[in-house]
This record gives sequence, C-alpha cells and structure tokens, in this order.
Amino acid sequence: MDYDDAAVPRYYTRKTADILHKYGPGPRVHFHMGLFDPGARPNTTVTQGVIKRRIIESQEAIVDHAARTWGAYATPPKRLLDIGCGVGGGSLYWAQEHGAKVTGITVTGEHIPLIEDFARQAGVGNRVTPVLGDFHDFRSKRKYDAAYANESSGYMDRERLFEVVAGALKPGGWFGIQEHFICRPEWTEFIDGYYKTRLGTLTEYITAAEAAGFHLEQDEDVTDRVAEFWIQSMAWNTAELDRIEGTGDAAAWTRERLQESTITHSKLFRIWRDHALETRLLLFRLGGGS
Ligand SMILES: C[S@@+](CC[C@H](N)C(=O)[O-])C[C@H]1O[C@@H](n2cnc3c(N)ncnc32)[C@H](O)[C@@H]1O
Repeated sequence: MDYDDAAVPRYYTRKTADILHKYGPGPRVHFHMGLFDPGARPNTTVTQGVIKRRIIESQEAIVDHAARTWGAYATPPKRLLDIGCGVGGGSLYWAQEHGAKVTGITVTGEHIPLIEDFARQAGVGNRVTPVLGDFHDFRSKRKYDAAYANESSGYMDRERLFEVVAGALKPGGWFGIQEHFICRPEWTEFIDGYYKTRLGTLTEYITAAEAAGFHLEQDEDVTDRVAEFWIQSMAWNTAELDRIEGTGDAAAWTRERLQESTITHSKLFRIWRDHALETRLLLFRLGGGS
C-alpha cells in the first residue's frame, strides 16, 4: 500500500492546539464523533458554550455506550491497550470508570506530555501509560485483556493491525473498534484526503480479523445517531468565526481553516445522512478463551 507514514503525525502535530481549544480543557479530551439520542435534533441557536458542552457529552456518551454494550461494566478489563489514543480521553475513561491499567499508544509525540498531565489531573497518573510509537510495530511481552481503537484503525493497515492486536491480547480477549466504513467508494478520496486516513470496508475488517484469529461478536450501526455531531460541530465553528470577528483573536484557530472546516462539515453531514459512509461499533473476540 502506497502511504506517507509521516503525514499522520504531521497532521496531528499541527492540529493538537485546535483539538484542545475545541474539545478541551480536559482532563478527558476526545477527538472522535459523539452519540446523540435517536432522532434528537438539539437546538443550535444557543451559545457556543452550550454547543461545546453538548459536543463533549456526546463524545463521552459514545465511549460509555460502547463500554456498556461490550460488557465492560459486567467484566471490566484489568489491562487495556488504547490504540491511537490521541490526547488520552479514552485512556482516562477506561482508567477512571473501569479501573483499568491502560497503555495508550500514539504516533504523535506532542500527545505524550499532554496525556501524562491529564492523567495526573484526573488522579490516574499511575494507571495510564502513554507510549510513543507506530502501532504497526508495537510489541509487548505483557498480554492485555482488551484493546480499543476509537477512530484510529482507519489510519492503519488492517491485516497488520489485527495481527499485532492478536499478539498483544490474552486468549479470549476482546478488541473494540469505533470506526467509519466505506459504503460508497466515490467519497473515499475526499475523506481520506481531509483526515489523512485510509478507511476501509466492513468486509475488509472482518476478513483481516478472521485471518488473525478473531470473530465478530457485535456490530452496531450508529451512523444515524452520530450524524448530528457534524451539525453541532458546524454550529461551534460558525460561533467561533463570529467570536473571532468580534475580538480580532485569530491566532490559534484561523479564519481560513475554520471556513474550510465548516464547508467540509456540511459535506460530511450529507455523506453520513446518506450512509455513503457508516460509523459502527464493532466487538471482535480473539479465539482460545475458556
Ligand atoms: C482521530 S484520532 C482519535 C484519538 C483517540 N482515539 C480519541 O478517540 O480521542 C486518531 C489517533 O490515531 C493516532 N494514530 C494514527 N495512526 C497511528 C499509528 N500508526 N500508530 C499509533 N497511533 C496512530 C493519531 O496519533 C491520533 O492520536
């Protein structure tokens, strides 16, 4: 596969300040889509602060919804690998809410001190260990009960991803994924170009997973419940454009990037509404458990 490995850390290094500004202040900062109640259309003609809280709540909601449906409340994983952990929102969630010892791996160096700092602030500095590295090369003697990849598997070679996860899990361990899957390939280039991803189809994931010894245990299509995220995010962007206009403060989040992002969001909303792409929560189980 022809792929520029430096493009992803470059993209995230440039983006980290914007992520903290829009989705912070933390300590649990997420960079992924969020879950809304079925059919909910929350009012967007409200203050930017209200929109921001709603966005963050929706991100927390999808992580918690996945954990619940994957059985983590009933059987919490003692050791969890958070693959492509961003600035650590998911890692902190698993450590704080389920008592897990979490190893979070990210290919972006700038994330590491942020995660350490956020974990300390949240009182789980001893339970969250951020590691800098490319997950394709990840090796660990320690075996994990579970692995989690929230909107990060789309950056990876799927065969390699599942092989590496299989090598890191205990027999019978689970691998939970939140990801977008291509349904109408004519949109792939647009999305991959914008996010520097290499998104795949559900079939491609299942084939790669089975080859590595996993079987698909749960598959939830949440496309309709996350599409609203684009509307809320677009509302935050336009409120931010108004704020910048009023204050002349365009240092961190420039007008041009906001305008481009907002136009892109309007396309993304239509792509999600039309199911040209689908967001799914997948639970894979590694064979060999009791
Ligand atoms: C969309 S963000 C999601 C972050 C986090 N999972 C969350 O939900 O907030 C994608 C993350 O994947 C990481 N990533 C992408 N490719 C990676 C790779 N090959 N190895 C490790 N991390 C990677 C990026 O550094 C980034 O932190």
